[in-house]
Amino acid sequence: MHMRPNLVEGGRRTVADVWDEEYRGGRYAGERPLGFVREIVAELDENPDIRRSLGLYAGCGNGRNYLELARAGLDIIGLDVSAAGLAQIAERELALAPKLV
Ligand SMILES: C[S@@+](CC[C@H](N)C(=O)[O-])C[C@H]1O[C@@H](n2cnc3c(N)ncnc32)[C@H](O)[C@@H]1O
Repeated sequence: MHMRPNLVEGGRRTVADVWDEEYRGGRYAGERPLGFVREIVAELDENPDIRRSLGLYAGCGNGRNYLELARAGLDIIGLDVSAAGLAQIAERELALAPKLV
């Protein structure tokens, strides 16, 4: 019988379960940030007032884009349902741990 990948015997895996497993398995490890990050950083350089605002990255995962934005000086909350993803960000940049939810 075909089972959808997010279903397991005896119960339903949550989105968090699925992404936790992905990140523990190395998903996005060592990958460069996506192109939009460079565009955002360029926009911040042209508009320093935005840089002083608080940002929210919903679905920041394990940080391939989030870390670059934070390192560019953006004050940004990283939100994700995957505790494993957030933990990997904190491992790479402990100072960002208070910004991760
Ligand atoms: C395709 S991944 C992309 C991660 C990251 N934006 C990147 O590009 O590396 C989608 C992410 O969204 C998160 N996610 C999915 N549904 C969510 C929800 N309702 N609230 C917060 N995060 C969610 C997943 O845990 C996963 O980390």
